[in-house]
Order: sequence, then structure tokens, then C-alpha cells
Amino acid sequence: MSAPEGRAADRAVGYSSTALKQCCAAAYDSDILRLLAGDTLHPGGARLTQRLGQVLELGPHTRVLDVAAGRGASALILATRFGCEVVGLDYSRKNVEMATHEAARHGLGDKVAFYCGDAERLPFEDDAFDAIICECALCTFPDKEAATAEFARVLRPGGRVGVSDLTRRGSLPRELEGLEAWIACIADARPIEEYRKLLAGAGLETDVTEEHDRALIEFIEGVRSRLLGAEIMIGLKKIELPGIDLALARTIARQALTAAKTGKLGYAIVTAVKHRGPSSGPLGDRVKAQS
Ligand SMILES: C[S@@+](CC[C@H](N)C(=O)[O-])C[C@H]1O[C@@H](n2cnc3c(N)ncnc32)[C@H](O)[C@@H]1O
Repeated sequence: MSAPEGRAADRAVGYSSTALKQCCAAAYDSDILRLLAGDTLHPGGARLTQRLGQVLELGPHTRVLDVAAGRGASALILATRFGCEVVGLDYSRKNVEMATHEAARHGLGDKVAFYCGDAERLPFEDDAFDAIICECALCTFPDKEAATAEFARVLRPGGRVGVSDLTRRGSLPRELEGLEAWIACIADARPIEEYRKLLAGAGLETDVTEEHDRALIEFIEGVRSRLLGAEIMIGLKKIELPGIDLALARTIARQALTAAKTGKLGYAIVTAVKHRGPSSGPLGDRVKAQS
């Protein structure tokens, strides 16, 4: 599936796929992002991570892969809440180091491990995991087909994948189509149906879809107030944020909030199963609007 005409992928030409991944990883391992977004770098925070774990029916005997695990917050939440073993992977070495440190600090070093790698070329054996999660990250991968094919390869037959991600409906303002908006998970967000098709194209049959648009609105509102707080602190010369274009960040946050409030941007969970053998036919999809 190629990106629809006029979409961010076309406009991002000029950035190689490697450059996009490096920009994204560098942004998400910076202290600035942590300041603006908090520990869990996705809408819905720990609550939606636990929801994903429930839908995937994780338990003490489940081996889970967290693709694009960031600083490891979700992996720690899942290991603590469901007792599962979690392997986290992230493109940023700095994130992997911080996540490893956090796991040890929480006494979870025997249950959780982190590796540096690319979601589009997972460094794991076939059928290695019972479940996969990928939160707020598929939208940033330049080659989404390669990533979902990798999900299917490393998932055991009968295993399930849970993606939570930004969704878009229709066109967005120009400010939400550039590199910075790509990194902010907006520019290459897809309609829910496209995420389902991406998974289906990899042989993963979707079974649950939940819309959590309210979580996105709350997340953006949180980012906006932290942004305002940061600007006040800079004005008072209490902190410095070199290398961040605050005016652009403010514009993107304002436009994103408008898009979320008018239904052009949303947030959703989509789960899918890898069939054991030849497809046993479509599963009835349960589509639910949540908070
Ligand atoms: C929005 S953050 C989400 C982090 C985490 N999943 C969470 O929800 O807290 C996106 C993450 O994707 C990682 N990332 C971006 N491209 C990647 C790739 N190709 N392979 C692995 N990780 C990637 C970034 O380093 C960053 O940590």
C-alpha cells in the first residue's frame, strides 16, 4: 500500500527513510520530549497500555514484543500488571539504555529486556513472540508494509498484535504535513481502515478495533499546557531549550487540537491475529467507540 497522493510521505521526499527514523529517534530520546509528553509517549498513557494488554489477554506465560518501546514505560507497565515477559525494541540507543536502567531500578531486569533495532527489520527469529504491541509508532515508520510483515514473521501462529496509533480522517492543514508533524505522529497517521488493511496485507486478521479519540484530545491539551509552562520558564531564564522551535511547536499543537476536536485526528487500538494455518475465514470485527 503506498501513501495516498498528496500525503506526507510525498512531501517528506528529500528525507531518506533512514533520516526520518534518525530524526524521530533523536526527538524521542531528548529531554525536551519527555518534558512535553511525559513518560509514556502516547495518548491514553498507562491506562491505554493496560487496555491493550487486556484485549491481547496477556498473562504470566506470554512473551511480548514492544516495537518502538521508547524509554520502556509500557514494557514495565505490562510486566508489572500482567506478569508477562517483555522484550522492547527501539531505534534509539539512548532510549534502550534508559529503558534498561529503568527496568533494573524497578527490579524487573529478569522480566524485561531492551534492544536497539529497526521495526522494519526486526532482529528476532520467526515465531518468537506470543504477542506484539506497537504504540504510537507505526505512523512514524516510513515503510509500514515492511514493519507489519515483520510483526507477522516474529509472531507465533495464533499470536496477536495490538497497534495503538493516531488516526486521520481527510485532509489536514499544511502545518500538520511537514517533518516535525511526521515526528509528532501526525503527518503520516492513517485512517483506521488503512491500519487494518496494513495488518491484513501481512496476513494478520483484525479482530478488535476501539476508538479512543478523547485520549488524544487530553494528550494534546497536556502537551500545550506543558509547552506554555516551558515558555514561561524560558522567559524567566529558569530553563533553556536550545534547538527547539517553540513557535512551530505551538502552531502544531494548536492545529492538532483543532483537528482532534473536529474529528480529523483520532486515536485507536487495532488488534489482529496470526492464523495457525490457512485462513479460517473473517472474524467478526467488534468496533467500539470508547471515551
Ligand atoms: C511516539 S514514541 C512512542 C514510544 C512508546 N511506544 C510509547 O508509547 O511510549 C515513538 C518511538 O518510536 C521509535 N522509533 C521510530 N522509528 C523506529 C523504527 N524504525 N524502529 C524502532 N523504533 C522506532 C522512536 O525512537 C520512539 O521511541
